[in-house]
Amino acid sequence: MPYGKPTQDSALDKEVTIHTLHKMKAEKEKFVTVALYDAPMSAMAKKSGVQVLLVGDSLGMTVLGYDSTIPVTMEQMIYHVEAVRRGNNKSLIMGDMPFMSYATPEDAMKNATRIMQAGAHMVKMEGGEWLAETVKMLSDRGIPVCAHLGLTPQSVNKLGGYRVQGRSDEQARIMLKDAKLLDQAGADLLVLECVPSTLAQEITAAVSMPTIGIGAGAETDAQVLVINDILGLTEQPPKFSKNFLVESEDIPGSLKKFVGDVRTGVFPGPEHTFG
Ligand code: KIV
Repeated sequence: MPYGKPTQDSALDKEVTIHTLHKMKAEKEKFVTVALYDAPMSAMAKKSGVQVLLVGDSLGMTVLGYDSTIPVTMEQMIYHVEAVRRGNNKSLIMGDMPFMSYATPEDAMKNATRIMQAGAHMVKMEGGEWLAETVKMLSDRGIPVCAHLGLTPQSVNKLGGYRVQGRSDEQARIMLKDAKLLDQAGADLLVLECVPSTLAQEITAAVSMPTIGIGAGAETDAQVLVINDILGLTEQPPKFSKNFLVESEDIPGSLKKFVGDVRTGVFPGPEHTFG
């Protein structure tokens, strides 16, 4: 196992920054991200040592009852980023840019500004090569960007469903190329969702930015899960997720278990991984 034992298993005592995460990648120390949406969970995540909070547009499905992320609006994202920020002054907060809010660099600039002013420390956007120009523009102007490749849920209609991406040689080649382009354009983090573990490992080794996997195997620099999956609130949980509440006494215990299991390399196991 390339990663060391946990060095931190309790409340965050220092503010997590982009610099912290890049240093952790360099030192092969895993970090943990949770997608969550409100102030009390955000406060618990701080107490449990979760370094990065993603206010994901998954809130469309997990909180608002839509059947995809497509209906989520800027106003809804801003409302939830503000709430998460009020609960936590230590974790790094990443705000998702909703569907079509970054279709042009100008839209991205205007809408990323609003997410940052709501309290996020960085924005997340789904896309490959076409997004590199936007990443560079935001990054040059002081807005850190997390890119997102693999299964990009805002493109579910184009992808024809929620499926593992990058299985063919050609798809894998394009994803690796896109990751390198986004890295060169200045992206600071990369989410890899539902990607074969060997491809995620190859991308992680090829880019300078830390990678955060969800259904991407154990070799990414970090892991992310959605809070509803961690707490067993999802009726049909995805293969890559795990209910940590069944092995814990309470919600903070579940978050601590997730943090510990990621940092020691126990999670994700082969049963959560796509070959
Ligand atoms: O919206 C979200 O929560 C996400 C994660 C699943 C990576 O994009």
